[in-house]
Amino acid sequence: MKAWGNLPGDDPERDRAEMEAAIEAAGIDLDPVPPGAHRHDEETSPGDHAHPHVHSRPGQPPIIGIVGAGAVGTALGVALTRAGWPIHAVASRDAGRRERFRSLVEVTRVFADPEPILDEVELIILAVPDDVVGPLAASLRMYGGQAMIHTSGALGAEVLMPAMAAGTQIGAFHPLVAFADTERAVQALHGATIAIEGDDQLAAMLADMAEAIGASPVRLAPGSKAAYHAAAVLAAGGVIALLDAIAELGRVAGLDEAGSLAIYGPLIEGTLDNARALGIRAALTGPMTRGDVGTLESHLTALSTHAPGVLDLYVAAARRELQLAELRGALAPEDSRKMRIVLAAALQAPSEPVP
Ligand SMILES: NC(=O)c1ccc[n+]([C@@H]2O[C@H](COP(=O)([O-])OP(=O)(O)OC[C@H]3O[C@@H](n4cnc5c(N)ncnc54)[C@H](OP(=O)(O)O)[C@@H]3O)[C@@H](O)[C@H]2O)c1
Repeated sequence: MKAWGNLPGDDPERDRAEMEAAIEAAGIDLDPVPPGAHRHDEETSPGDHAHPHVHSRPGQPPIIGIVGAGAVGTALGVALTRAGWPIHAVASRDAGRRERFRSLVEVTRVFADPEPILDEVELIILAVPDDVVGPLAASLRMYGGQAMIHTSGALGAEVLMPAMAAGTQIGAFHPLVAFADTERAVQALHGATIAIEGDDQLAAMLADMAEAIGASPVRLAPGSKAAYHAAAVLAAGGVIALLDAIAELGRVAGLDEAGSLAIYGPLIEGTLDNARALGIRAALTGPMTRGDVGTLESHLTALSTHAPGVLDLYVAAARRELQLAELRGALAPEDSRKMRIVLAAALQAPSEPVP
């Protein structure tokens, strides 16, 4: 049977401890830091002062904090720790993710909110969703001597500018890896490309960090990040969309998905080998290089009849192929024009679904 405890008032020490615990659990700060300032232990300091107490030793990696214990934050935490770049602090609002991070990474400090991390580290890594990076940076303010980076492939480093103060740096560190599973991602970082942004000093440190985890750093030209990321999306998701269209046409020919991959896979690999050996333009083959209008028409009729959902993709690829064939000098502009007319007509014609 549950024993009754003391009544309130019987033990003032215990009552006070319980009240303080309840206040802390409710997230209420009874001694808030004035706006623009922050505190170390009992001492309150202005917001723009440098942090002499969080300097790493010369030649040593910076003191690192990660905001976001999701797919990328956790895998980077594991990879960096194994590479001898320890993670001092992590922030995640989710208790389960915090625990998972702690179970995988030997981390000194674990927070629910990102703000306290800024009091304790030199390098802040924001590994949060793209849409969160800007608003989160706008809610944080760095101290002199600190650097902040994000891991987004789509955003430039400038999105972090609102967090800057005198003597701070911003950058980006985008691994070209699909972070589906932590351990597989850590392995995949070996040999992966990491796009880095930042001024010379920060970029050099980020390049060291990339090399430490076995990756190859590349520095992108300012303003080129979105195009670089779009290419990555075409190389991954775009190729999958193409494979899906190939499998749909394979089904028309009686092949299941495995059959299509078995038959067309080697053709794709051979084409990639040719492009690597000869260059992309020289590797182009097929009816578009020959001006073979009859073959093109038969393809378009088959697509309209049996796989109308593939028509757009085929026409888009064919237009790009015609452009390449012309540039290569393989196709006369007149033949290219005829094929373009056939392609445009196929998109306008109502498709004929299979009865
Ligand atoms: N996934 C990939 O394959 C991949 C590859 C390269 C780059 N990236 C980039 O890496 C970044 C992170 O992606 P991810 O896949 O790791 O995302 P994720 O698995 O969804 O993890 C995102 C983390 O951010 C935290 N978070 C979300 N909203 C927040 C907010 N308002 N304030 C503070 N923290 C917040 C999350 O929540 P909790 O606080 O609740 O823990 C979580 O820990 C993105 O910019 C992405 O584009 C991803």
